[in-house]
Amino acid sequence: MEILMSNWTDVQSLPKSYVFPPDRRPGENVFPVCKNVPVIDLEKAEGLDRVETIQQILNASQEFGFFQVINHGVSESLMDDTMSVFKEFYGMPAEYKAGFYSNDINKSCRIYSSTLNYNAEEVHYWRDNFTHRCHPIEDHIQHWPERPARYREIVGIYSVEVRKFLLRILNLISEGLGVEPGYFDGDISKTQLLSVNHHIPCPDPSLTLGMPEHCDPNLISMLQQCSVPGLQVFLEGKWMGVEPLPNAFLVIPGLQLKVISNGIFTSPIHRVVTSSDEARTTIGSFLIPSHDILIEPAKSLLDAGHPPDYKAFTYKEFFSTFTAKNCDAEVALEFFKNKPK
Ligand code: OGA
Ligand code: NI
Repeated sequence: MEILMSNWTDVQSLPKSYVFPPDRRPGENVFPVCKNVPVIDLEKAEGLDRVETIQQILNASQEFGFFQVINHGVSESLMDDTMSVFKEFYGMPAEYKAGFYSNDINKSCRIYSSTLNYNAEEVHYWRDNFTHRCHPIEDHIQHWPERPARYREIVGIYSVEVRKFLLRILNLISEGLGVEPGYFDGDISKTQLLSVNHHIPCPDPSLTLGMPEHCDPNLISMLQQCSVPGLQVFLEGKWMGVEPLPNAFLVIPGLQLKVISNGIFTSPIHRVVTSSDEARTTIGSFLIPSHDILIEPAKSLLDAGHPPDYKAFTYKEFFSTFTAKNCDAEVALEFFKNKPK
């Protein structure tokens, strides 16, 4: 069978290779929806309510692990255009997309299905993923698709805008943590990746998953969701659905932020379930440290009562452990944890 599911037509039943073992199936139950995901109004951060907004971000990150942001500065029309361009890309002919197909994690622009381990995995996840680097644009744009015709223009503008947005959030976080201003600028947030998930309608969502449960390995992530729900977060011992809020961005702190904040930030466990009615496309944007940068709990957060939870490591060291551990970021991070005395 054709590997990329975005090329499939007329899927009547769930192929066997997508059926999870019973203990890993999401099941028939309808998951409760998380009704109170904190919503941050970023416009308020520019005025008198800055301190309050920063506090909201910290509270949200501690209580939920993540938050949504409205009035984030990226226009609705740019969000819609970008979503359309990615949907058009997924709808391109199979032969065209095949030119981008790769399971090599080091390839700067690639499309693949399920996980990078497609050939070795026992069960496949119900998704295609298209991902590429974005920053600085001039270093990467030549690898991006030339079709749809608007791809490079629209995705170019979008990636600059979401980078600005994420750096604004990181700035507020650095103020909230009380680490030095500019802590998150430069090499620590230099690499930017776009990662677009696409799930076609699934004949039986109870038997399969669109993405494994995971924590994001990077510094910080944001998602532009479409109107079809699918994201779930593991909160207080149960899976909860995160309903997309129109025109909002969802911000998910990554494990590197957990390390730098010495555990003040957590990195939420999340996964994606599938939908039987409609296709779902989400645009993820990640900021990632450069390979040679040293990641460690910020010195200003440490004292006798707050010893470092993690040893210092380079992102390269973390990343090679991550790939060696089957891309399980939490397992990888355990190797860099200080043992309690
Ligand atoms: C991710 C992710 C969720 C989604 O790409 O890391 O968690 O809804 N995506 O696509
Ligand atoms: Ni994720």
